[in-house]
Amino acid sequence: CGIVGYIGHREAYPIVIDGLKRLEYRGYDSAGIALFDGQHLKISKTKGKVADLEKKVENEISKEGNLAIGHTRWATHGAPNDINAHPHFSNSGDLVIIHNGIIENYGALKKELIKRGYTFKSDTDTEVLINLIEDVKIKEDVKLGKAVQIALNQVVGAYSVAVFDKNKPDEIVVARLGSPLAIGIGKNEFFIASDASPFLEYTKNAIYLEDEEMAIVRLGKEVKVRKIKDDSLVDPYIQELQLNLEQIEKGGYDHFMLKEIYEQPNAIKDTYRGRLGVKNGIIKMSGIDDNIEKFLNANRIIVVACGTSWHAGLVAEYIFEDLARIPVEVEYASEFRYRNPVITEKDVVIAISQSGETADTLAAIKLAKSKGAFVFGVCNVVGSSIARETHAGAYTHAGPEIGVASTKAFTTQITVLTLIALKLAKETGKINNTDYRYHLQELDLIPQKVVESLKSDSHIQMIADTYKNARNFLYLGRGYNFPVALEGALKLKEISYIHAEGYPAAEMKHGPIALIDEQMPVVVIATKKGHYDKIVSNIQEIKSRKGRIIGVVTEGDTSVKELVDHIIEVPETLESLTPLLTTIPLQLLSYHIAVMLNKNVDQPRNLAKSVTVE
Ligand code: G6P
Repeated sequence: CGIVGYIGHREAYPIVIDGLKRLEYRGYDSAGIALFDGQHLKISKTKGKVADLEKKVENEISKEGNLAIGHTRWATHGAPNDINAHPHFSNSGDLVIIHNGIIENYGALKKELIKRGYTFKSDTDTEVLINLIEDVKIKEDVKLGKAVQIALNQVVGAYSVAVFDKNKPDEIVVARLGSPLAIGIGKNEFFIASDASPFLEYTKNAIYLEDEEMAIVRLGKEVKVRKIKDDSLVDPYIQELQLNLEQIEKGGYDHFMLKEIYEQPNAIKDTYRGRLGVKNGIIKMSGIDDNIEKFLNANRIIVVACGTSWHAGLVAEYIFEDLARIPVEVEYASEFRYRNPVITEKDVVIAISQSGETADTLAAIKLAKSKGAFVFGVCNVVGSSIARETHAGAYTHAGPEIGVASTKAFTTQITVLTLIALKLAKETGKINNTDYRYHLQELDLIPQKVVESLKSDSHIQMIADTYKNARNFLYLGRGYNFPVALEGALKLKEISYIHAEGYPAAEMKHGPIALIDEQMPVVVIATKKGHYDKIVSNIQEIKSRKGRIIGVVTEGDTSVKELVDHIIEVPETLESLTPLLTTIPLQLLSYHIAVMLNKNVDQPRNLAKSVTVE
């Protein structure tokens, strides 16, 4: 979910609505706003997107007021409908809350409150929290800030919240545990948001709350930050923000996703800039340099991640084992955290996350740390929770990724992981110097080769048109390109809602081959290096069952061409670097199919860019 708040001298409505639009990547199944104009508390909320909320507001409430909080939701408790949308009120109608996260013990708390006479309109955990705050406030006769603090100490779960009392409209109380929250500080005005993008044009000064911290934001006063647990005051660090607004706008493309696909040559270059020394043969990465012993003495590396980042982890497994000869295991963070894994001080954990906020990945990190492992983060968002929670790390520097389906984050994650693998291979002497230098040169040529790969765009558009009505797709690859097949299938599912499966090409005969008939498009990644002959045999197996084959091949390939229905070429490169090229046409294929089917490419149904609940 995304939250935005404003208190100050300006009209709060446009600030909060525009801010919510920028946060829609965090969830968009319902939205709501509470406005206070000095006399009236006005609330409007609806199932659907922020644009739907805007329409509803026109007919429902007046937009005046200098205090407002708003919310865009990704449903956890309770279906996405008008009633469950935020903000929520307390029973007296005085206190208003927006909340991102989950209150796990809400059932028990709700029972207790019902006994005390409270009633509930929605099915949400949030309405329980606001009534708990009200109950504490009345029972203990304390101010709002104190009541929020006492209530949060009774809560089990994760949250970021903003609360105000219409009888005290000069302050907003905010708190964070597990979900991000930034406070923008202007001249006698304050902004609150899940990330800084809603207030960038108003102020560049921000405080990012840490976990278990709360703040009272009061007009005419400095922001006071406290620890929720023991009430101790924290000296807040006011950060100067570097992001600019243009970076997060579409820049002439129809969709953020397409823009981000096309940004990949530069994004990859930005990722290795200053790190990859082609001339001197040195890879500079301070996070690795400063902790090199940890890596060299590691028994194994465990990668934890979710979604697309997990796929980048799978590519890393191949490259780490192949080049640096270090054993690697790749785990879904959500499984790892709950399965009582064996972890020791001799393990290095690499957590991969675009947003740096994914709740399961964050929890896996905490678990690994508690067992003494050294934890290294690969994140895109600077200053994100995962970046802060890990012992060391390397940023991908891909720039903001807005499209919910991840594209440039994936290829830049692979770039960072390739740099690390090469560096470790060199340090351990597992790679000879000629090979090492060759890898560096080839990596430096990748951005140009991505540009070449993007040139197939219109050809891919035609292929998309041929298969847009297919009900299923199969994606096959071997070796380094097996994870690419998984990622290709995930992209198609995410944005076109066509069922797709990624499979190791040779495993096909143990099941999925049963699905193949003349209706079934099969995307096969069959680049020259890496089990080429084997994959050609797999292609024949599909062909003899009349499957329709789209082959992704190395430029100039002739043998696959004869067997397949369509061919998409990518430039030649080292086997270990092929995922950076073969991924590109698969992104474009899913993009075009989704556009042709009229789907919402940047904000596919049911998904969210940053999943801060488990
Ligand atoms: C969500 C997004 C995916 C992403 C995954 C992990 O499900 O929709 O695109 O791959 O979370 O996100 P992270 O930010 O940790 O990479």
